[in-house]
Amino acid sequence: MAADVPIECTVYPDDCDAFGHLNQASFLRLFERARWAALAAGPGMDAFERSGAWPAVRKTTIEYLQPVFPGERLRFALEITRLGHTSFDMRQTVRRATAEGVVAAADFVFVCVGTDGRPVPVPAEVAGYFGARSPRATTATQRHTVQGVTLAVDVSGDGPALLLVHGFPLDRTLWRSVTSTLTGWRRIVPDLRGMGLSEAPDGDYTMAMYADDLAALLDALHVETAVVCGLSMGGYVAFELLRRHRDRIRALVLMNTRATADGSDARARREAMMARVRRDGTGFLAEEMLPKLIAPVSHETMPEVVRHVRMMAAGSAPHGIVGALAAMRDRTDAGDLLATIGLPTLVVAGSEDQLIPLAEARAMSDAIRGAHWAVIPAAGHLVPVEQPVATGRVLREFLEALPQT
Ligand code: MLT
Repeated sequence: MAADVPIECTVYPDDCDAFGHLNQASFLRLFERARWAALAAGPGMDAFERSGAWPAVRKTTIEYLQPVFPGERLRFALEITRLGHTSFDMRQTVRRATAEGVVAAADFVFVCVGTDGRPVPVPAEVAGYFGARSPRATTATQRHTVQGVTLAVDVSGDGPALLLVHGFPLDRTLWRSVTSTLTGWRRIVPDLRGMGLSEAPDGDYTMAMYADDLAALLDALHVETAVVCGLSMGGYVAFELLRRHRDRIRALVLMNTRATADGSDARARREAMMARVRRDGTGFLAEEMLPKLIAPVSHETMPEVVRHVRMMAAGSAPHGIVGALAAMRDRTDAGDLLATIGLPTLVVAGSEDQLIPLAEARAMSDAIRGAHWAVIPAAGHLVPVEQPVATGRVLREFLEALPQT
């Protein structure tokens, strides 16, 4: 088992208070148990002892979002969000194994100390296992309630606004390595409703709903206009923003996406996947989609990318995944929209994208007057995680050349 497979723990009656709720101390204990279980699945529970370093918790921030009761199984996901020389930050999120929504999320700061209590380097094998390529800077995740749903959003930097919209079945962390390179911009990176740490209300979702959520989020952040960058399903949302909230868009980046709507085969595949998620949950998604989401070369040579994609795919609530599939199934063809965009536009494709053939992306770019076209070499459908440096460079060049407002 690898660290990218979420760790599951059962809540025992003695974890709970007199009213049957999991109490704060027990939450902390389960977070810690999940960390050791993740370590056991990787470099071994004795990894710190072997290297003469002990991880001492220096700071903890926990958000308790839902009560938990005896007998429930909880699923923990974990990532290192900053890796320093002697310290590291870790984010753990916990959900019910079978149902909706994030139950709690915690941020920890650890300092590695030796037997004399002095700081010592983070053991290399631990750092490597939990994601040596994780971004070094953390961004506080904000929560905004818009249209009755609470969205998680990372906001960082000052300057003109850049709204980055993730694809399916992913979350806002898709953009982390890229956003750290885009200084001089106010980067607004939400989880769409139903995905990542955002709330997942029941019922069908639509592209219009996602677009209205994002326009309301811009309102909540007092942003009038933003450059909108959408990857794949995020691109479908960007098209809907164009239809419904054109005045909020300053420029457009369409990344690994297509303008055409689903045909009958694609709609049938969505229906089958919705039925399977309703029956089996989301556990199968990562394995089923990974081979198509990233290029074979990324699969073979970038275990940390594989791990990250698995975590994203496992991290969303079943309702959110079903909702997204319904929204994609029912989306409107954007072919006619392309000639009317009339905004600075960049189209980005991955040279090895198996979901959107290069020729189709190129044809979409050609249909948009004045569009800039960029191909990211050695990358599949997820260019921001497979080739973050090249993707960041292409984005920066486009952003820097935009007319001043
Ligand atoms: C995505 O990456 O967002 C999805 O693959 C898009 C789709 O399934 O149409």
